[in-house]
Amino acid sequence: MKKVGIVGWRGMVGSVLMERMRQEGDFQGYTPCFFSTSQAGQAGPEVNGTVYELLDGTNVALLADMDIVVSCQGGSYTGEVYPQLMAAGWSGYWIDAASKLRMDDDAIIVLDPVNRQLIDEGLARGIKKYIGGNCTVSLMLMALGGLFEQGWVEWISSQTYQAASGAGAKNMRELVSQMRLVGENAENLLDDPAAAILDLDRNVVETLRNPIFPVSNFGAPLAGSLIPWIDTAMENGQTREEWKGGAESNKILGLAPGEIPVDGCCVRVGAMRCHSQAFTIKLKKDVPLAEVEQAVAEHNQWVYLVENTREQTLRELTPARVTGTLDIPVGRLRKMNLGTKYVSAFTVGDQLLWGAAEPVRRMLKIVLE
Ligand code: HSE
Repeated sequence: MKKVGIVGWRGMVGSVLMERMRQEGDFQGYTPCFFSTSQAGQAGPEVNGTVYELLDGTNVALLADMDIVVSCQGGSYTGEVYPQLMAAGWSGYWIDAASKLRMDDDAIIVLDPVNRQLIDEGLARGIKKYIGGNCTVSLMLMALGGLFEQGWVEWISSQTYQAASGAGAKNMRELVSQMRLVGENAENLLDDPAAAILDLDRNVVETLRNPIFPVSNFGAPLAGSLIPWIDTAMENGQTREEWKGGAESNKILGLAPGEIPVDGCCVRVGAMRCHSQAFTIKLKKDVPLAEVEQAVAEHNQWVYLVENTREQTLRELTPARVTGTLDIPVGRLRKMNLGTKYVSAFTVGDQLLWGAAEPVRRMLKIVLE
């Protein structure tokens, strides 16, 4: 029986992964081993009636005994442990949600509804590193995979509206703490329907600008505001999150670096765990809108079209609606006034599901097939 080591199963992405694995009845046909970097020896999760004792996640000999390691522990852990495993001559499969190894030449970024062929070819070639993609990239490709598959895309500009979860669990808490403070401070004015709106506005702004407003994780207010910067700076003025859009999309699609230009502006907004994106898509030719719609809708079983009406947009195309589901709605789809080859679209997707845990979960199943 194959041994599968799971590291980082208690963190945010790891918990979503565990939840999905339980839902899908994935814990079958192999021996799961749960690792921890801080609680080795203690009781771990209960799976199918067995409580697993936690193994030491820093013990390379124990990890090297695994046929497959799935890590949701984060990039620093990967950076520390993976080279040691390599040095020890380990030849198992490394499946990782962190970005650390993503762009390595011998790594495949996994998103099987989009690049199953690349994954299968990689497995046949003996590739052992399968890494989940950046969340905005995976969600974009799940949404627009049909257009790429048709070879219609000349370039894409993506303006993102990224949720707090992408920055981490502490950031989600900070967002809600910010919301609470705004609500508490405004309570009297809010309860008085006769209160002047500008007094309410001033009250909220004073709260946001108060030196004790909780911003230690985001570095700025997010509730009642937004932050047009995600990740570190690149030398060309992009943020790393924006750079990933182009670099990872092409790699996932098996294209040469930069073959399809993808660029845009990545913005953090006050959503909890759904990333949204507005796309400007330049097509290589004037494809009728009905064909664009059909290609988008038929690409995979999770993507679906939302009619470009106010009613359907409000019902289907919001983080509040999509959160916690694998749904990938695509709406606001239309030809733009810029010209017949320009299409606009909007999509929403759960950052922790298709954006993080789901491609990793599915990759484990593929390796085990
Ligand atoms: N970097 C993303 C974000 C999350 O900050 O929203 C994970 O890919």
